[in-house]
Amino acid sequence: MQVHVLKNYREFSKKAAYFVASQVILKPDAVLGLATGSTPLGMYSNLVEMYCKGDVDFSRVRTFNLDEYLGLKADHPQSYHHYMFENFFNRVNIPRDNINLPPGKPEDTEKACREYDKAIARAGGIDLQVLGVGTNGHIGFNEPADTLYSETHVVDLAPETIEVNSRFFDSPGEVPRRAISMGVGSIMRAKKIILLASGENKREVIKKIAEERVSTEVPASLLHLHRDVTLILDEEAASGLGG
Ligand code: GLP
Repeated sequence: MQVHVLKNYREFSKKAAYFVASQVILKPDAVLGLATGSTPLGMYSNLVEMYCKGDVDFSRVRTFNLDEYLGLKADHPQSYHHYMFENFFNRVNIPRDNINLPPGKPEDTEKACREYDKAIARAGGIDLQVLGVGTNGHIGFNEPADTLYSETHVVDLAPETIEVNSRFFDSPGEVPRRAISMGVGSIMRAKKIILLASGENKREVIKKIAEERVSTEVPASLLHLHRDVTLILDEEAASGLGG
């Protein structure tokens, strides 16, 4: 696992954007696995800037998002569909047909999960997966548990996740209780992974991940089993790391 520590959110966001842009420059039809949350917002705006300057072209890129709340329509302001179109897809030149997110209101949830995995496989797998991390160690919406799912599945959100994510909703009661998420197998099959964490509230979880023990109670710790993972951190998130 490689670790990059950047001095502030601005530098951190630039670094994350360079990783994504380099992937696309090297392989113009790259398959990107994308994340939501507050952490990658700066990365997306840097990528939009690079696109506007003509430094990177997304016209052949294909994307798969990690997760979506179950029960929210695509145009709901807190849906991950809405987030992705507002912050990234509407502002670069990725063709609509190349964009994939798990559906928030599928007619048949099981079928939607299987189709999502098949679509990833048809695309040839994910070249670069961008991850954030929950304060409880979740990746995508793979919450701490005795066992984890390998494939795309429905998740009951952990109370901590509902509480943390309630900042985006008018009240905690409005946060959906369930989500649809890529499984850890789909994430681990990505050829390259970057995990982004910024801010003091990620200090403890980053410390746990860095302990180099693998536990399903800290889903992000599974990344130790992958051969090409880079942690991109700002100084606050890295402040619990020794040396
Ligand atoms: C959310 C998402 C994750 C995200 C994480 C951290 O619940 N499902 O994909 O990485 O929590 O979010 P944030 O970046 O806002 O801290």
